[in-house]
Amino acid sequence: MFDTKILGTDEDSIAYAAKLLSQGEVVGMPTETVYGLAANAFDEAAVRKIFAAKGRPADNPLIVHISDISQLEGLVDKIPPLAVKCAEKFWAGPLTMIMPKSEKIPMVTSGGLDTVGIRMPSHKVARALISACGFPIAAPSANLSGSPSPTTAQHVLNDMHGRIPAIIDGGACGVGVESTVISFEGDDGIRLLRPGFISAEDLMEITPNVLIDKGVLEKLGENVKVRSPGMKYKHYAPKADVTIIDSSLEAFREYVKTHADNDTTLMVFTDNDCDGLDIPHICYGANDEEQAKELFDVLRGLDDIGAKKVFARCPNKDGVGLAVYNRLLRAAGFQVVKL
Ligand code: TXA
Ligand code: MG
Repeated sequence: MFDTKILGTDEDSIAYAAKLLSQGEVVGMPTETVYGLAANAFDEAAVRKIFAAKGRPADNPLIVHISDISQLEGLVDKIPPLAVKCAEKFWAGPLTMIMPKSEKIPMVTSGGLDTVGIRMPSHKVARALISACGFPIAAPSANLSGSPSPTTAQHVLNDMHGRIPAIIDGGACGVGVESTVISFEGDDGIRLLRPGFISAEDLMEITPNVLIDKGVLEKLGENVKVRSPGMKYKHYAPKADVTIIDSSLEAFREYVKTHADNDTTLMVFTDNDCDGLDIPHICYGANDEEQAKELFDVLRGLDDIGAKKVFARCPNKDGVGLAVYNRLLRAAGFQVVKL
């Protein structure tokens, strides 16, 4: 058991966190997307501690974070031409690219796969920490496996208290949903495995050939080959039974009037959605970006208030909205009422 310390973002704190990491420990780290659980990507024992702290299945690979493009070459065996274009346009930022891994990346880090996801975050503190370490940092989201990703140091502390020695508190994450994950198909194709702040439409500026993987919007059957292991695990689920109501505001209000009971909480965009409805509600934002930023805090908040049954308004399914919808679908166990 650790007495988990909350660190600041000053130079001494970053140096202290880097020292812990170089000694093979695990540290909570802010990024622009969500908080990560960081360890030396080359250190198998350290990476095992990440899996243990999260309760994460060993076959779910970790993203490797770099602070400078020059680090990329040693980590992957081949850099697809489109990856260079994507890096130029979207790095530093919330984009993870899956590429064939070099032998420097241990199998523990890549969850037994021969590929690795690489991302160069734009968050100043994450960059400073990686630079101070001098080695790339493996980091999944810093939640317990299955829970919503953490967007504040307090969320990380709630999940990781006693399990890790330190968390750097860099304030609330600006984006709020995890990075966009892509792989490459041939020389001119991009497959979107996990939508994020870098949207499918953004990727189409690189190539028109952007394929949205089936797993983004559908629950994959037991026997379907999964291209990204994270897709097959239960995710983001609050204790409440969440149903997405895919409809106009008017139809949402009608549905709620006839289906809500004493156990119902509404998850809506703004207070106005609930005008005249005498039912507890929680707002998650008026537009795609706000919803991305608030979603995980709201899902955690549903547990805090002991919500049992939730009717949620449906986010947009394009732009950044697709990332919100993808996470909410999982939180709802794919329960959608389309009106
Ligand atoms: O924004 C983010 O990406 C955050 C911050 C901390 O950087 N990290 C994050 O990591 O969300 P994690 O482990 O929670 O999610 C990574 C996802 C998982 O669904 C995993 O299966 C997938 O990316 N993934 C990682 N490496 C992969 C690979 N080589 N092939 C296919 N999918 C991969
Ligand atoms: Mg995660």
